[in-house]
Amino acid sequence: MKPSVYITRKLPDEVVQPLLEKFTVRMWESEEVAVPRDVLLQESERADALLTMISDSIDAELMGAAKNLKVISNLAVGFNNIDTEAAKQRGIVVTNTPDVLTETTADLTFALVMAAARRMTSAERALRDGEWTSWSPLGFTGQDVWGTTIGIIGMGRIGEAVARRAKGFGMDVLYCNRSRNADAEEMLGALRKELDELLAESDHVVMLAPYTDETAGMIGARELALMKPTASFICASRGGIVDEDALYDALKKGTIWAAGLDVYATEPVPSNHPLLSLPNVTAVPHIGSASVRTRMEMMRVSMQAITDVLEGKSPKHRVV
Ligand code: DGY
Repeated sequence: MKPSVYITRKLPDEVVQPLLEKFTVRMWESEEVAVPRDVLLQESERADALLTMISDSIDAELMGAAKNLKVISNLAVGFNNIDTEAAKQRGIVVTNTPDVLTETTADLTFALVMAAARRMTSAERALRDGEWTSWSPLGFTGQDVWGTTIGIIGMGRIGEAVARRAKGFGMDVLYCNRSRNADAEEMLGALRKELDELLAESDHVVMLAPYTDETAGMIGARELALMKPTASFICASRGGIVDEDALYDALKKGTIWAAGLDVYATEPVPSNHPLLSLPNVTAVPHIGSASVRTRMEMMRVSMQAITDVLEGKSPKHRVV
């Protein structure tokens, strides 16, 4: 009998085709709607491999029922939706899709830096709403990006790619990371700082750290209060790292300038979320890696990981 693969979201036929030749493949029917939990549990029971999305919670309960499961291939670089400890205990391989999304995610992150600082989305909304009545000397003025200081929290591959973009804008680069990033220091002149110093000195604070027990809620009222009133906060890794109530207060009171958000504590973020009522918030729906080319490449990498594990080979991007 061929090994069985379950894909938790509808993917393009041409991407799935190579798997069909080797495995029995079943796939959730919708591209837009996440697979319901009961369906996922049922499908996992007979699956040798799961190709999962960040919207799926792959926990110990599921793995306990998935007696044949050998590999969970997550279509993302982040994998906080997977209980990796439970996977490790059961000898289930977990893989992710780094590298192929680095530059695309850095593009979006830098776009948020610019949009937040220069009030792009609120200015555009005003124009569309007919509120642009005359050019005026200080109309729609924002904060500069060029020649300012960017502070990157989480200096991994994407952080470095954002720093490279920042150098092109003549910016100074500060970073905060668990370990020193010698390449970023030597090649980009990045300066390592303690978190509090980075927050106080940066004009654009960019969160790119992964969501872990250590980083959950690491940016709260105290941290936001350290930022300059002219500084923006950008979050492009995971929403739970910032206390959204505290962020709302800081933006509402104007103790910081703006925020650019791609990720939220709850996703999809409810449309009545208080942050979305603020003109100084630029909010996009978790699209960091969302270019056609990159998403197709991520799918290819995920499929390859499944093939490798099911054929007894070592996958390229193994998390546990
Ligand atoms: C990732 O890869 O972790 C992104 O957040 C999903 O696009």
